[in-house]
Amino acid sequence: MRCRRCRQPPVIELRRHNAAFCRDCFFHHVQEQVRRTVHDFRMIAPAERVLVAVSGGKDSLALWDLLLDLGYEADGLYLGLGIGEYSDASQEKVERFAAGRALPLRVVKLEAEGPGLGVPAVAAASRRAPCAACGTMKRHYFDAAAFTGGFDVLATGHNLDDEAARLLGNVLRWQKDHLARQRPVLPPTHPKFVRKVKPLYLTSEYETAVYAFMRGIDYIVDECPNAAGATQLLYKAALDRLEVESPGTKLAFVKEFLRTAQPAFAAVEQREPQECAGCGMPAYGALCSFCSLVREVETRRARTASPLPA
Ligand code: AMP
Ligand code: FES
Ligand code: ZN
Repeated sequence: MRCRRCRQPPVIELRRHNAAFCRDCFFHHVQEQVRRTVHDFRMIAPAERVLVAVSGGKDSLALWDLLLDLGYEADGLYLGLGIGEYSDASQEKVERFAAGRALPLRVVKLEAEGPGLGVPAVAAASRRAPCAACGTMKRHYFDAAAFTGGFDVLATGHNLDDEAARLLGNVLRWQKDHLARQRPVLPPTHPKFVRKVKPLYLTSEYETAVYAFMRGIDYIVDECPNAAGATQLLYKAALDRLEVESPGTKLAFVKEFLRTAQPAFAAVEQREPQECAGCGMPAYGALCSFCSLVREVETRRARTASPLPA
């Protein structure tokens, strides 16, 4: 086999593309794939300011690198979730990446913000799975940072494998409201929301991992300790088995959903957000899901702190 583009000996084979690439042509392939995704889905206009949510993992750091290469002005946002050593190590990776390239980085430590709550405290007090609490908190801080920073777009590093696994989970439970919002571009539905985009939507986890490695990006390899046993990993493993037997399955699953089914779900699920009575960010009830979660934690804590009168 030879490199598809230049006919030199290849260093990587991509079965779903039925192609192999040398190092430089692999960089070109990934950059083109992301450039086309950003262009075709109208994710980012040339002069727009982008806030990239970077976790310290391969996908989001590769995304930041790719967006800068494509000529976008992109600041980084790191959220310190308060998950012990894992958070410390991932923050260090992000800070080193930004410092090495002199890039603007915003660091928001959840425990130092308003309610002073990190993910473990919220998960324990609300008796939710840490990942569920974490998702709600991350969304809130992403939205708030993008809005207060005056950015046009918020980009996350979700890749094809993430999207396929999430789609499988949503389909298995027919979560119509989630399916209605599962798109590579979410236009803002409120003046305090910014557009949310996933430029790695059609790029596989394998491609981002090899890209990050070959570009010399130093990323955190360990998974979040809360991920062990998460259903998302089970769905990923199931899809990996299908992909081995039939390369291209994940891409077809995600692309065909977007083309044929997603518009139907989106057409029936149109809710307009109001403003949250707690934090002022958009909300679908009196309180946004972040403030509801915080209130639940505070109520539980108050109850355990003050014993019932005798
Ligand atoms: P995950 O939800 O962990 O699969 O991460 C999906 C995307 O969310 C990543 O690719 C990042 O863009 C973003 N993200 C996750 N964790 C953080 C974090 N601690 N700080 C900033 N962005 C994050
Ligand atoms: Fe959110 Fe692990 S990153 S619980
Ligand atoms: Zn709120």
